Amino acid sequence: MPFPVESHELSFEQDIKPLFRTKDRAAMLTRFDLFDHADVAEHADAILGSLLSGRMPCDGAWPEADLEKLQRWIDMGKPA
Ligand code: HEM
Repeated sequence: MPFPVESHELSFEQDIKPLFRTKDRAAMLTRFDLFDHADVAEHADAILGSLLSGRMPCDGAWPEADLEKLQRWIDMGKPA
């Protein structure tokens, strides 16, 4: 396995919010707030799609482990 797959429950505050940098939040604030659970939950499909395609962030793709974590959080029902 190329990276450890965590099996514990994920939460937005503990696991997902820290994936976003202050500059990510600032760049995207006109569309949604990446530090806000409700906003990320509402736009989760667009956010994941942009990260998977490598379009976002504008300055370099996420590591696979972080993409996997976001995908699992969505699959879990996007818990706060
Ligand atoms: C984890 C970080 C980021 C995520 C998840 C993200 C996500 C997205 C999404 C989903 C869109 C499409 C929004 C829409 O059409 O309503 C978008 C657009 C855009 N983002 Fe980001 N973004 C991130 C970071 C950044 C950064 C660091 C920049 C650099 C300045 C940036 C610049 C832009 C620009 C200019 C657009 C509009 C043009 C386009 O759709 O390609 N974003 N982003």
